[in-house]
Amino acid sequence: MDFTSPMAGKVVLITGGTAGIGKATAIGLATLGARVGVTGRDLHRAEEAAAEIRVASGNPAVDAFAADMSSQAEVRRLATAVLNAYPRLEVLVNNVGGFWAHRHPTADGLERTFALNHLAPFLLTNLLLDRLKASAPARVVPVSSGAQSMGRIDFDDPQGARSYSGQRAYNQSKLANIVFTNELARRLEGTGVTANSLHPGVVRSNFGAEDQARWFAVMSHVILPLLKTPAQGARTSIYLASSPDVNGVTGQFFANRKPRSANKAAYDTNMAARLWQASAGLVGL
Ligand SMILES: NC(=O)c1ccc[n+]([C@@H]2O[C@H](COP(=O)([O-])OP(=O)(O)OC[C@H]3O[C@@H](n4cnc5c(N)ncnc54)[C@H](OP(=O)(O)O)[C@@H]3O)[C@@H](O)[C@H]2O)c1
Repeated sequence: MDFTSPMAGKVVLITGGTAGIGKATAIGLATLGARVGVTGRDLHRAEEAAAEIRVASGNPAVDAFAADMSSQAEVRRLATAVLNAYPRLEVLVNNVGGFWAHRHPTADGLERTFALNHLAPFLLTNLLLDRLKASAPARVVPVSSGAQSMGRIDFDDPQGARSYSGQRAYNQSKLANIVFTNELARRLEGTGVTANSLHPGVVRSNFGAEDQARWFAVMSHVILPLLKTPAQGARTSIYLASSPDVNGVTGQFFANRKPRSANKAAYDTNMAARLWQASAGLVGL
């Protein structure tokens, strides 16, 4: 653990921090001296992950939170628990996300990819925003994907009710992450809170394992050795959460710790306002 790092004593929340890229991000930021909260669906699993992160980082300041973030009531409960636990919050890493080959409704009756990958971070960020502003300089770091480049926000059927494809739903949700980030950055101008999204690379994790696409199951055996490790996949998240290089930088999309151009829809401010309004309606904000 590095007591001299600029992250020493800062507080970071990482959603989906119990496995994969999120857990590696938690180890990296805890090693830099931050107090790190990790979330997962199951408290026992989250406590186990927190214990492993403490050992790997040498930092005892790691906390576990449990919430199934596909449920809006659970996201609200999580936000309350975080606000009660942390008087300051300098970084929110919106890492949680998944892929489902088939359409699965959530407890709220919403399509799961849209609900977990887009609406959950939208709602959580908004519920934590005043705390982030009060802790400025602060950062919001949404984990998107290279799949954003193939995404399209389908305002007529955003939840694939008429026709569902896992890949289309995922691409749309990862584009929505960037559209949301860029709109958030505009709304946060002058507050000292920045928002930058990222593609972590293609990473060996549990990603998509709950309901895997057949082609992915076959291909993953072939491409497995070419994939990044979670620690490699976490590098850009750690960079955007902690590096002084990006002080004041906002509304950008990064890969391999460098700014990149995203899907051109990500820069459409009218569409961003429309998505914000539709999302706020769906989460009751
Ligand atoms: N892997 C890749 O190649 C890749 C590429 C581009 C982008 N990404 C993005 O990177 C992010 C992390 O992916 P990953 O590969 O690390 O995935 P992962 O290994 O499947 O990890 C997912 C994490 O999210 C948590 N989680 C899953 N469903 C949840 C729910 N309903 N409520 C709360 N927590 C939940 C899991 O915790 P529990 O199981 O303990 O609940 C776990 O900590 C995602 O946003 C993904 O879209 C991944």
